[in-house]
Amino acid sequence: MGGSRGGIVVFGAGGRAGRAVTAEARGRGYEVTAVVRDPARYPDLAVDGVTVVRGDVTDRGSVAGVVGGPVAAVHAVSPFSGPEQGFDTLDPEFFVKAADALLGGLAATGVGRLVAIGLGANLLGADGRPVMDDPGAFPAEIRPFALAHTAGLERLREYRAGAVDWVMLTPAGHLEHGGVRTGRYRVGGERLPDGDAWLSYADLAVAVVDEIEAPARHRTRVSVFNLRTDTGSGLGGDAG
Ligand SMILES: NC(=O)c1ccc[n+]([C@@H]2O[C@H](COP(=O)([O-])OP(=O)(O)OC[C@H]3O[C@@H](n4cnc5c(N)ncnc54)[C@H](OP(=O)(O)O)[C@@H]3O)[C@@H](O)[C@H]2O)c1
Repeated sequence: MGGSRGGIVVFGAGGRAGRAVTAEARGRGYEVTAVVRDPARYPDLAVDGVTVVRGDVTDRGSVAGVVGGPVAAVHAVSPFSGPEQGFDTLDPEFFVKAADALLGGLAATGVGRLVAIGLGANLLGADGRPVMDDPGAFPAEIRPFALAHTAGLERLREYRAGAVDWVMLTPAGHLEHGGVRTGRYRVGGERLPDGDAWLSYADLAVAVVDEIEAPARHRTRVSVFNLRTDTGSGLGGDAG
């Protein structure tokens, strides 16, 4: 591992995406500030180059308190501590509050780049409808979560003139925990790609850190994926 290349603050660092981003960032020589709500629950996160701090992504003061110094922030938060919980207690404003707190807190502390992770359910299917509006493609009971995610994306989109250059990377298709890091990914637009799309958390992390290292998309959201048919060559270009 080389010398420090600056700092990245990861919100949701104890989660699946947060851990993958932290590992990818450390692998490329960045210092990581790992934000979790209760550091005592994550003793394993505190390795060389990773500082674990307490923070709440929905609280602007908390965001501003933990981000001083880093060059970029990553929003890898889901309002749950794991995937198995129900959606009955979901705050429909969760992702809106997170967007407001992040944009406000980062701007106040001079952090100019935010990479957020989106949800594939608000990409458009073959019939032009958001996937979440097709009960055949997306379970109705999870729709409130997709709506909450979409509200957060809309909040980011409303933020046009502020100092924070945000991008949302939306996994298109299955996001695979423990999946292999190929180091490659395709970038698409608002539509679900044709074919069997998937992405490992590790490759999502590659895309996240790429967008910090060499920002290519600004104040927009894109989809990120690989195709099962990909053979290992010709990946990494834009899929349209
Ligand atoms: N195919 C897809 O489109 C797809 C699939 C999966 C996930 N995703 C999205 O990817 C993102 C990351 O998901 P994931 O699978 O990594 O989630 P995860 O494993 O459930 O981790 C989410 C983390 O967020 C943290 N968190 C919750 N509330 C917080 C708050 N107020 N402040 C700070 N941290 C908080 C939790 O930690 P504590 O409880 O310890 O605070 C948890 O570790 C989410 O936006 C999710 O919806 C997309």
